[in-house]
Amino acid sequence: MVEVGATLLNAENENVIKTIYNLETSGIDYFHIDLMDGKFVENNTTERMREYCEYINSISNLPLDMHLMVEDIEEYIKSFSIFEPNIITFHIEATKGKEDVMKLIKQIKEYNIKVGIAISPNTKIEEILEYLPYIHIALVMTVEPGKGGQKLIESTIKKVENLNKYISDSKLEVDIEVDGGINDKNADTLKKAGANIIVAGTSILKSKDYKKMVDKLKK
Ligand code: DX5
Ligand code: ZN
Repeated sequence: MVEVGATLLNAENENVIKTIYNLETSGIDYFHIDLMDGKFVENNTTERMREYCEYINSISNLPLDMHLMVEDIEEYIKSFSIFEPNIITFHIEATKGKEDVMKLIKQIKEYNIKVGIAISPNTKIEEILEYLPYIHIALVMTVEPGKGGQKLIESTIKKVENLNKYISDSKLEVDIEVDGGINDKNADTLKKAGANIIVAGTSILKSKDYKKMVDKLKK
């Protein structure tokens, strides 16, 4: 069964509590928290996402899936671990070599949090294969990281297929998460390619009935 995470990146700030409540009752499995530092990507969502994590932790029991689009990964792991996320995913493009990656994996695990590594559309899957035995999730970005409401980049679907083949051939237990521009039209293709965690923002938030959209993404 595919899991669905909803991102609040494009939620309207004024009625975010209502949005959180409606998402909670729509059947999503995670709140996907898009953390941006204004350096790794242009936007800075740090303070707004910190506020949203506080709201979510006070009114929902759903787990947090934190997506770090930041340069200072260690600092963000430390400061956002207080929200006891289920998953913390960092970008391989923001790391400084194997030793650094292994140190970050260890740091996240010490908080008893699942580890994800994300690759942007132009990054090859070969960049993360050696880390797969140590992590829980590989996040294949299907848009350029940095903002919501973009169109899915078709070439990333092949990356999901190739990664899925490598994971099954190597008998590894790693979930494939996909994130960006995903809707009820392209979700099936991504699931067939091997994705088992789907992140969506716009397609859910713009829909008249959140639950209907989430069910379509899950089916
Ligand atoms: C982009 C974020 C994604 C994206 C998903 O940097 O990581 O989570 O905002 O939002 P939609 O579904 O609107 O593309
Ligand atoms: Zn994201």
